[in-house]
Amino acid sequence: MRKQVVIIGGGPAGLLLACKLLRNGIDFVLIEQRTKEYVLSRIRAGVLESGTVNQLVEVGVGDRLKAEGQTHDGVYISTSDGFFHVNFKKLVNKTITVYGQTEITRDMYDALESWGANLIFEAKGVDLIDFTSDSPKVFYQKDGVTHEIQSDLIIGCDGFHGISKSKLSDDSDNGFSAQLPIGWLGILSETPPLKDELVYSRSDRGFALASMRSQCLSRYYIQVALSDLPENWSDEAFWHELKHRFPAGLVENLVMGPSIEKSIAPLRAYVSKSMSRGRLLLCGDAAHIVPPTGAKGLNLAASDVHYAFEAITGFFRDNDQTGLENYSTKALLRVWKSMRFSWWMTQMFHTIPDRNPFEEKIMASELSHLQDSIAMQKVFSENYTGLPY
Ligand code: APR
Ligand code: PHB
Repeated sequence: MRKQVVIIGGGPAGLLLACKLLRNGIDFVLIEQRTKEYVLSRIRAGVLESGTVNQLVEVGVGDRLKAEGQTHDGVYISTSDGFFHVNFKKLVNKTITVYGQTEITRDMYDALESWGANLIFEAKGVDLIDFTSDSPKVFYQKDGVTHEIQSDLIIGCDGFHGISKSKLSDDSDNGFSAQLPIGWLGILSETPPLKDELVYSRSDRGFALASMRSQCLSRYYIQVALSDLPENWSDEAFWHELKHRFPAGLVENLVMGPSIEKSIAPLRAYVSKSMSRGRLLLCGDAAHIVPPTGAKGLNLAASDVHYAFEAITGFFRDNDQTGLENYSTKALLRVWKSMRFSWWMTQMFHTIPDRNPFEEKIMASELSHLQDSIAMQKVFSENYTGLPY
């Protein structure tokens, strides 16, 4: 098989790029190692920056998002003393949209299938070679048969554990990373959300977040030790702990119910040294992992895809390689700014076991400064709603 572009990975990054290529007449194939059902069963964050929403709408997969997504003007922040609201709309004239990543993924798969896109599922043993030459190749196995795809470009959208990332790093240098000794225990419950907008909380017992997917589906998180396990937490124990991490006045009307999903996500940070090599470009989690505080994962995947798409169209339409050469530098600038914000939010909201009491005080005072300073709230709003690209 011969294609202009091979996309490896059918998560949000790969799917968004596929939609853009298809709408612009660039011939591609997307290969995903799992089934579509498996990809759609993963529960991830659900906060979209306007740049992400605009891309989805522009490419023609925004109808359900526009109908069902909720526009939030800001977020609530709670401390041991009470809570306050940061109003993005008022401060920077921007909003966020709450719409689950699973739904976006479903919308993109539905659209791609109806447009007749070339999607291959359950591709095993994926490998890529010759990407520093003009004719890179991808191999995969399906139903016991080995296939070879010759292409002009390979876009690695295969996440943190994919094959593409390993092709850019060598044994001695894997990029920049940090791991925190904590995780987020999350539950999904068919109950109304705590408030009309998200509530991030710093408490002496650790971080908590009240988020939502709709008016009858809530997503809650509490900070736990990285070594903890979901089975250690009954629903009752979870709700009990959650209630103690918000001020009493805020949770008196909390509606509790059985969890329909419960899992622990680690808090880690990783940025690849480079996001491209020759004819191989990385997008999304293949190139970076941000801690979940601030919900930047999917939004960064979307800005990477924006830059990658610019580079790809420059290459095919104008026969210009400059975009490919500059892709990594351009994308990494925004990645590092989002990482900085996620890391700062993470440090400010969590109680981190290996931090000394002095550092804890500094972080508590960081939050108190955010509460008191409109200038700080403006900076927070600018970052939370998404930096321009
Ligand atoms: N070959 C083919 N597909 C692969 C391979 C491989 N060798 N390895 C992994 N994949 C697939 C995975 O099965 C997954 O469906 O690549 C996809 C990567 O998807 P995500 O992990 O969701 O990564 P990305 O698309 O970059 O997501 C960006 O969405 O899922 C969240 O946490 C993620 O917030 C981040 C954002
Ligand atoms: C979520 O709704 O899952 C969510 C929201 C905000 C975050 C992280 C996750 O910062």
